[in-house]
Amino acid sequence: LRSEYLTRIADAPDAATLEDVRLAALGKKGQISLKMRELGRMTPEERQTTGAELNRLRDEIDSALRARKTAMDDAALDARLRDEWLDVTLPGRPRPAGTIHPVSQVMDEITTIFADMGFAVAEGPQVESDWFNFDALNIPPEHPARQEHDTFFMHRDAGDDRPPHVLRTHTSPVQIRAMQETGAPIRIIAPGRVYRMDMDQTHTPMFHQVEGLAIGRDISMANLKWTLEEFCRAFFELDEVELRFRASHFPFTEPSAEVDIRCSWEGGALKIGQGDSWLEILGSGMVHPKVLEAGGIDPHEWQGFAFGMGIDRVAMLKYGIPDLRAFFESDLRWLRHYGFAP
Ligand code: PHE
Repeated sequence: LRSEYLTRIADAPDAATLEDVRLAALGKKGQISLKMRELGRMTPEERQTTGAELNRLRDEIDSALRARKTAMDDAALDARLRDEWLDVTLPGRPRPAGTIHPVSQVMDEITTIFADMGFAVAEGPQVESDWFNFDALNIPPEHPARQEHDTFFMHRDAGDDRPPHVLRTHTSPVQIRAMQETGAPIRIIAPGRVYRMDMDQTHTPMFHQVEGLAIGRDISMANLKWTLEEFCRAFFELDEVELRFRASHFPFTEPSAEVDIRCSWEGGALKIGQGDSWLEILGSGMVHPKVLEAGGIDPHEWQGFAFGMGIDRVAMLKYGIPDLRAFFESDLRWLRHYGFAP
């Protein structure tokens, strides 16, 4: 019996077989258990010797079972450790990752620079009432500037009595909204999308502007000049910048100036900050009294400057990109070429 069971235990290929062997020997109806029960019919002397032998046999089989079970578990663990082995030094498989669009990157840079100068960010809707987009900015319905804006008008059904709306043609309506919301004093920028029916190498029907507005008791053109120079120094990463203020006209500023930055075209490559050429980068001026009034601010007490800059335009200048349309074509080869995608 002893050698039979020890052999079966040693030969058991798996845990289930081992359990069968255990039941056959030590289970309630197992062979050893049955023999134990026979002890009752023996003489006391026989019982003592046979009982002791059976106990020893039972313990021996029991420990053989346990040892075999432990060996099986160890082998199983070894196998798992071998199979599930992981080389943590293998290089990872690269996954294509998205990046921030160049225009958004530039927008973030611009926002950060003005935030350092104390400008908060204001917002307005892209579908704007024509009152905010034009009238409040001193552009009445018959004003020629309305035609020059190449406006997209929102469709209206006959009998619709809501005010006419347009896709905003500039970020200037946010000036009015900011004035109405907070009153003077104000120091905000308003970056965002604007729309005009225009398409060529330097124009897309959707583009980006950032508006600036500073209203106080004695804010002047000198403050405007300093603010813009400071901005250009930071944005174009120059030690010194030279800006040229050219007298101009906007209905919502008086006086008005267009601002150019010094540049050169050395061998066809644009260089910002030095040279004999000038490049227009923004429109600006002192906020017109009628605009302050439309914003609910008393022009006898308050004054300030405003400017509007093309974000895509300064992005083209900073990164030397010749065609504005490429910004919005999502061509990966183009994005990679300019380092905007991995
Ligand atoms: N809104 C003007 C434009 O789109 C720019 C501008 C803004 C000019 C503020 C003066 C003051 O051309």
